[in-house]
Amino acid sequence: MTPSDLERVEVPPEPLADALGEFIDQTFPDTSVPVPVYLQTAQLCQRAAVDRYLASLPARVDVLDIGAAQGIFSRVLFDSRPFEHFTATWVDRDASAMDTGLRAAPFGAHVKRVPADLEDERWARMIRDEAFDCALIGLLHHHIGSSTYTRIIDVVIGQKLRSRGRLVAVELGAGLYQDGAPLQVVIDSISESIPDTIASFEPTIVGTQVTVPALNREFRIEYVCFAIDAVAVGR
Ligand SMILES: C[S@@+](CC[C@H](N)C(=O)[O-])C[C@H]1O[C@@H](n2cnc3c(N)ncnc32)[C@H](O)[C@@H]1O
Repeated sequence: MTPSDLERVEVPPEPLADALGEFIDQTFPDTSVPVPVYLQTAQLCQRAAVDRYLASLPARVDVLDIGAAQGIFSRVLFDSRPFEHFTATWVDRDASAMDTGLRAAPFGAHVKRVPADLEDERWARMIRDEAFDCALIGLLHHHIGSSTYTRIIDVVIGQKLRSRGRLVAVELGAGLYQDGAPLQVVIDSISESIPDTIASFEPTIVGTQVTVPALNREFRIEYVCFAIDAVAVGR
């Protein structure tokens, strides 16, 4: 697969509020990209993925958010349209990030937090089977091993989703780290983590761009997004 085989989506440039200027000295190691820029582009991209892949969710929705941290991806989905009922289960080894996000989220009272290490397969036993309309994975691939990622996807699509459920993932592609891997290397690495049982893996590359007036600079970061439907295993 080459980048030219992939469909590309451009999210229009968004001005980053001047108010964020106070944070711009927070940068990732070995990169000049300020943290708020990364966070904003990630959320723009997650919104694009929600609009593209999760337009037909039911009005009452149960969400599984893997590597949720503060639950930003869940929140992007929640903000995308009015739901009649919105419940979420967040899995992350960082319990305090989940606590912070839970307090901030308007649906926080309907969040179940599951502190667990995704490298340890017992995490799956802490979550109900066939219970979720969608599963979200945001910015996790670069944190964990490829075989763990494969196993997570297998468990989610084969056990945790309802029969019409869908997994949507948004992974960091390129642009965050100055000397980071070129996009094609990242795509290949993610492709290799997709279970062999998935017949067609067709990611979308979402290009995001933010302007930071305080820095008089534009930042361009790309993300790899994909969706996988529930697999009928023993259903
Ligand atoms: C970049 S954050 C993703 C935040 C969120 N999903 C989003 O889209 O904004 C990555 C998260 O993955 C979690 N994580 C990384 N490795 C993990 C593991 N082995 N088990 C559980 N959580 C893990 C980290 O604690 C962190 O909160």
